[in-house]
Amino acid sequence: MDFELKTLDLDGACADKCDALVVLLPEGFKPGRGELARLAAAALKAGDLEAKAGKQLQLYKTGGVSAPRVVLAGCGDASARAVRTAVQGAVGALKAAAVKRLTLCFAGAATGPAVRAAVQAAADASYVYTTTKPKADARKLRQVLVAVPDAAAVRDAFDHGVAAVKGIETAKEWGNRPPNHATPTHLADAAKALAKAPGISCEVLGPKEVAKLGMGSFMAVAQGSAEPLRFIVLRYNGGARADAPVVLVGKGITFDTGGISIKPAPEMDEMKFDMCGAASVLGVFSALAQLRPAVNVVGLIPACENMPDGRAIKPGDVVTSMSGQTIEILNTDAEGRLILCDALTYAERFKPRAVVDIATLTGACMIALGAVRSGLFASDDALAQALHAAGEQALDPCWRMPLDDDYGDGLKSNFADMGNVAGRAGGAITAAKFLQKFTAKMPWAHLDIAGTAWKGGAAKGATGRPVALLLDYIAGQAGEPKPARAPRKRK
Ligand code: BES
Ligand code: MN
Ligand code: ZN
Repeated sequence: MDFELKTLDLDGACADKCDALVVLLPEGFKPGRGELARLAAAALKAGDLEAKAGKQLQLYKTGGVSAPRVVLAGCGDASARAVRTAVQGAVGALKAAAVKRLTLCFAGAATGPAVRAAVQAAADASYVYTTTKPKADARKLRQVLVAVPDAAAVRDAFDHGVAAVKGIETAKEWGNRPPNHATPTHLADAAKALAKAPGISCEVLGPKEVAKLGMGSFMAVAQGSAEPLRFIVLRYNGGARADAPVVLVGKGITFDTGGISIKPAPEMDEMKFDMCGAASVLGVFSALAQLRPAVNVVGLIPACENMPDGRAIKPGDVVTSMSGQTIEILNTDAEGRLILCDALTYAERFKPRAVVDIATLTGACMIALGAVRSGLFASDDALAQALHAAGEQALDPCWRMPLDDDYGDGLKSNFADMGNVAGRAGGAITAAKFLQKFTAKMPWAHLDIAGTAWKGGAAKGATGRPVALLLDYIAGQAGEPKPARAPRKRK
């Protein structure tokens, strides 16, 4: 989708040739010149429209407006949150009309956060998945013009929003792809494609290299599948060479059957979304290519399937992780932590300023926090605060959960250094306690996105979360931006 930002008042937006015009009307709206401004003021006065976010009035072929469709949308106090609600509602209402070009006009003041929210909400509400449903492409919105009173004042926020959309759509794309179209090999190819951008590089390890590293826990999960595992290492170098990187680790289970501890059949298809952590890492890198913040970032993705098979791991098997710690696999469905632990040990070599893993890790987190906030666990208070603040700012919120040592008691095993599950109680926390055993040498945080990464039911699909949160966090770590280097010329 193409986004454009322009200084344009409501009267100017009325002259813009597009398929639909959305007018954001704040509380206390003061009509300027033009017919539509008068009409909006009249509707507000008559009570046919409220300026509250989410309230709207649709018009068709109205005099003095080039666009055939107009939505007058209340945007309340014009905060980022209210503008998001308004744009979601208005663009949602236009979805059936197959609008190609949309103009989004702020009829009042436009702050940076509000413009960013508008850009992201327009993309989110008009998103259509097309890869294995190409006919849906005809319904895609192609162009959005954002009209504001002063474009220069909100340019940076707009650019951040456009880059975030790119990242979120990359994450949605890979999350939504059917599991036979998003194998570990496919994910690795996607990562390699991202490395075509300047400043980004990618290395992909296969079963042989992973065995050599001693990733016995990751290999154990992969051994039940005919699809070979991949370990993806992405690097973005925007900072100085010596700057310690942020390391992101994304769970890349491209399908989770549960393995021998097999899951029940209903809704098992949704376990294609078990690589949404990995997809969020791919999303962040595609946005970084555009944003180019002055920071170093490493992305690690352990990717494999979790399948039942004659060669699959069994409850009771003991494996040796890359860290040297042994693990008794009591439940083969607690596989996410088994692949993440080796990736976290691998992360140590980068001497990271912070390592953040992102995983659809536990159904228990979904029960605890629902679909509103991701679960945040952290061994480092400053890191927890930074991630929490990034989530608030990006409207992609998370909530900190506890890591008291007592929660780890259930992981004790008579046959290994630890078991891979504790009891049912506090399942999101005990999973985090397991991961913590592999992160003692680094400031570490864990985002459990089981409840937030996708929606089920009629609106089934990936949300692209927590790409926006991660981008805000990374942007906050950056020093001065470094200009894009031109690709080196071949001799
Ligand atoms: N990928 C699942 C977690 C999950 C399940 C996320 C349902 C969203 C919806 C994970 O691998 C898993 O199966 N976790 C188990 C852990 C249990 C065996 C300790 C779970 O949550 O049931
Ligand atoms: Mn599982
Ligand atoms: Zn899983």
